[in-house]
Amino acid sequence: MIIAANLKTNLTRKESDEYIAELEKFLDKNNFSQEVLVFPATSSLNSHSGKVIVGAQNAYAAKNGAFTGEIGLDHLEEFGIKTILIGHSERRHIFGESQEALVKKFNFYKELGFKIVYCVGEPLEVREAGNKVMMEYISTQYEGIDIGYENLIIAYEPVWAIGTGLTPTLEDIEVIHKELKQKSHAPLLYGGSVKVTNAKEVLACENVDGVLVGSAALYVNHFCSMISYAQELNK
Ligand code: PGA
Repeated sequence: MIIAANLKTNLTRKESDEYIAELEKFLDKNNFSQEVLVFPATSSLNSHSGKVIVGAQNAYAAKNGAFTGEIGLDHLEEFGIKTILIGHSERRHIFGESQEALVKKFNFYKELGFKIVYCVGEPLEVREAGNKVMMEYISTQYEGIDIGYENLIIAYEPVWAIGTGLTPTLEDIEVIHKELKQKSHAPLLYGGSVKVTNAKEVLACENVDGVLVGSAALYVNHFCSMISYAQELNK
């Protein structure tokens, strides 16, 4: 399974390095076979060799250039980063990234062979409008995306579940994941208020191939427990 930590705007470079070193120790000790991804803040990116795959939370669709406040391919290459998160709801909703901009970013990093974790998910008012409206909304987030891309991982993250402590029921997760799996055979993660207390049940859901974890992943021991659960399930 794929267990991913989105550290968002937390942990300095030193703290992120320590976090990843702890994870490596844990993985080595247990000889686990799970795929573990960590997305540190941009200024916390660093070169790393080991089992943990370090990815960028964001980068612009350019090698370099006049894009104030952004980083480009050169900055990722400096640290050997070949994995990127695209379409996270905070990028879509707080920073107003359009589907068009995300597609551009997706295609740029796809051409370079990056592993891409592409996020989709609906806001609360869309969910409340019913299943049909919700699935139509999520479908628009697949527009322009090469769903057959070999290095694609999709993360379903309902916007209203991110950082709120709320989650869909396990049954809802299974229903939505089943529908999304029909759109793309890429591994499908669930994200949104995954905690050490609910990770086991979420990971056990049908068509859940892993989790993308934000706040709860900041505790490295909690994140390690989630990796253990995935290992126990051995899906
Ligand atoms: P959360 O965030 O686990 O804090 O809800 C998940 C995410 O944003 O990827």
